[in-house]
Parts: sequence; C-alpha cells; structure tokens
Amino acid sequence: MSVHDDIDRILFDEQQIKTAIDRVAAEVSRGYGDRGFTVVSVLKGSCVFASDLIRRIPNRIELAFLAASSYGAGTESGELRIDFVPTGSEIEDRDLLLVDDILDTGRTLSKLREELQRRGARSVRTCVFLDKPSRRSVPISADFRCFEVENLFVVGYGLDYAGRYRNLPYVGALRRELYS
Ligand code: IMP
Ligand code: MG
Repeated sequence: MSVHDDIDRILFDEQQIKTAIDRVAAEVSRGYGDRGFTVVSVLKGSCVFASDLIRRIPNRIELAFLAASSYGAGTESGELRIDFVPTGSEIEDRDLLLVDDILDTGRTLSKLREELQRRGARSVRTCVFLDKPSRRSVPISADFRCFEVENLFVVGYGLDYAGRYRNLPYVGALRRELYS
C-alpha cells in the first residue's frame, strides 16, 4: 500500500507540471525585467512548487519563507493563523513574489499580502500553483498561476489532506470515501 493507492485520478502529471512551470517562470521573469526580487514561499504547501519554480527563474532573487495554517484538518479552510513571517530586512522596501500552493476562497493570500504590505514591502505580487476560481469568497486574483482547477479537493505536489500526500509528484483527486 502506498499513497498512490488513495488517488482516484490524476489531474496534472509530472510532464504537464514541468511545462506549466516553465511557462510561469518565463512570465515571472519577464514581469520583473532586469530587477531582482524576493520569493516568499508559504509553508508548507508551496515548498515543492517554489523549489521547482525558482530554479527556472534567471533573475537575481532571494528566498524567504512564511508559515500560515488554518485551524482544522478537513477539506474546508478555517481561521487563518500566521505562524511566522520573514524578518523586517527581508520585507522592508523589497519587491516580493508571494508563492502559494492554491488560491481557493482567497482568504489566505489576501491576508498574507496585506500583512506583507503592512510590514513595509515595496510591492507584493502573487503566484499560485493552482487556482480554483469557483470557490472565491474574497476578491483576489493571482498575478501568475500554473493551472485552473474545478471545484474538487486535490492533493499532491505539496498539497495535503490532513498533512499527507504532499510527496506525490503529480496532482490528483483523492478517493472520495477517504474524506467524506
Ligand atoms: P484559501 O484561504 O481558501 O484560499 O485556502 C488556501 C489554502 O487552503 C491553501 O493554501 C491550501 O492549504 C488549502 N486548500 C484549499 N483547497 C485545497 C485543495 O483542494 N487541496 C489541498 N489544500 C487545499
Ligand atoms: Mg494545506
């Protein structure tokens, strides 16, 4: 038995992911031109995406981490808690690219963006691996994104269900009986 046995179907395989990241990395790089910037990866979900993405970006970048979690281990996101933020010198007067695994209701990314702006970032752009526009409750759209997904709970490539499945190299839909 392995994590693969819990997957109902694969939505994006490794090759599709690689192609999408090459495209988005080129868009990001073009978006910043000659300028350097700081990639702020939101832990834990975006660590896999961010590590692949930064290796496709030729600009002079720095890397910082931010940790946020929502209460509850189910498939609905609850109250957001920010566990740690980059240091003042990593944020102040910096151009930041906030990178997350998925834009769902939009609460997480809009709160985090506000927090970084409040702490003195010069600019904050957003880049997400997945986008579920049908679920949006806060008006926010990502500046860069790899894939749009239907209203379906997905795991893999960093995304978890109750802390698991982040290590799947593809994005898949979990077998429904495992979470409903
Ligand atoms: P939002 O605040 O509702 O936009 O939720 C964003 C967070 O919810 C993400 O960073 C994920 O951790 C989690 N999330 C939302 N949808 C999914 C999903 O389909 N699979 C796994 N995690 C998800
Ligand atoms: Mg999560």
